[in-house]
Amino acid sequence: MDPKMWIDVNSESFQYSLDHFVIPDHYESALSSVLIPHGVIMDRVEKLAKLIVQEATGPLVVCCVLKGGHQFFADLVNYIKKNVTRGGNSVPLSLEFIKVKSYNNDVSGDVKLSLTDDECKEFQGKNILIVEDIIDTGKTMVQLLAKLRKFSPESVKVASLLIKKTPLSNGYIPDYVGFAIPNAFVVGYALDYNEYFRDLDHICVISEHGKEKYAVKN
Ligand code: HPA
Ligand code: MG
Repeated sequence: MDPKMWIDVNSESFQYSLDHFVIPDHYESALSSVLIPHGVIMDRVEKLAKLIVQEATGPLVVCCVLKGGHQFFADLVNYIKKNVTRGGNSVPLSLEFIKVKSYNNDVSGDVKLSLTDDECKEFQGKNILIVEDIIDTGKTMVQLLAKLRKFSPESVKVASLLIKKTPLSNGYIPDYVGFAIPNAFVVGYALDYNEYFRDLDHICVISEHGKEKYAVKN
């Protein structure tokens, strides 16, 4: 098997009952199942870090896509630091942060990027690794990549913890993927629904009650 192939969290059987895990009381009624337990996430992030170090050709600018990417970014960078020696050469890291917002309720809207052209100039000649929580339609990432490439980086790779199997996908596939997930709205491990659930460790499927309870009322 290609070690870069993602784990396919495919069938219903992958959805664990909430009763089997510790879930904060304030979220219990807003979730329908645990899709990826925290420990499994951590084990997979460690492997992605190892692959990234093996394939690095020089210093990396690791670029966190906020806010949802922050937990994956923090854990990935920690594991990269532990793996940082590659065939006797070490891989220096620098860290950057980009804020992107495209969601209201569970509906994708226009993508807003926080990067100014001045900030992007720093990327010239660098090896960039973009760290994202989830590729859903692929729209955000395609726009972000188009913007970054204008500033002539040496290379741009993307690590996404999740890729969603949705008919709305534009076909974009990142260089590193943790898990492919079913077409459901997921929260936890910094992924949010209207800013809620970032403080949940497991990746869970939100319930219909949860969507209503935490909806933004327009
Ligand atoms: N959950 C949280 N954020 C997201 C999702 C999701 O399923 N898809 C795109 N952004
Ligand atoms: Mg995101």
